[in-house]
Amino acid sequence: MSIPGASVIVEGHAIVSVDGMIAAADGSMPPALRNEADWRIFQAALDAAALVVLGRLGHERHPNPGRKRLVLTRSVATLERDPADLLTQFWNPDGMEIGDVLKQLEIASGTIAITGGTGTFDVFLPLLDRFVLSEVRDLTLPDGIPCFSKGHPRLVLPGAGLEARDMELIDRGVVQTQWVRP
Ligand SMILES: NC(=O)c1ccc[n+]([C@@H]2O[C@H](COP(=O)([O-])OP(=O)(O)OC[C@H]3O[C@@H](n4cnc5c(N)ncnc54)[C@H](OP(=O)(O)O)[C@@H]3O)[C@@H](O)[C@H]2O)c1
Repeated sequence: MSIPGASVIVEGHAIVSVDGMIAAADGSMPPALRNEADWRIFQAALDAAALVVLGRLGHERHPNPGRKRLVLTRSVATLERDPADLLTQFWNPDGMEIGDVLKQLEIASGTIAITGGTGTFDVFLPLLDRFVLSEVRDLTLPDGIPCFSKGHPRLVLPGAGLEARDMELIDRGVVQTQWVRP
């Protein structure tokens, strides 16, 4: 239980290049960073989650397919409902603790899926119970957008206390590792 007052599991998800990038320098996701097998696993996890947490740009880029969303933005002081989407709340982590957010949203159990980008992964790094990391073997994205601002997830996740458990080749050239807090 990493969030005080809530028995939730905090689980991150990312697909990265060999150099640990989640997007190219211009913020776009190159086709080589998209993988069908990874996408299916990712979407199933989001469908099963009690809440999906993401940054404002990702929220605007990917229309909500009917999930409860918590969107990080500095444009609100604390927590406000998105007037355009009943299922989405805008949240500023500097203005309200995540435990209080979950109380207000009446989420006391289940999985909280953290889908990035960088600012969102950074905020949740100390709270992660699990992280599902897919790595595309033959792709590097020099000057790309990093998964974590502190460095490659293979170094940052153990630094935050997570251990690599299962590694699986989910598709040709794509390895998925389950990182868990022991
Ligand atoms: N490969 C992957 O697994 C993966 C995962 C996630 C995203 N992506 C891709 O990565 C690209 C870049 O993502 P990104 O990081 O630039 O965008 P993003 O995380 O989707 O959105 C960034 C915005 O989130 C808000 N934000 C971030 N950290 C915050 C904090 N600590 N407090 C309050 N608000 C915060 C800010 O919104 P305001 O400007 O409104 O304040 C910021 O401008 C996108 O193309 C996305 O599709 C890839």
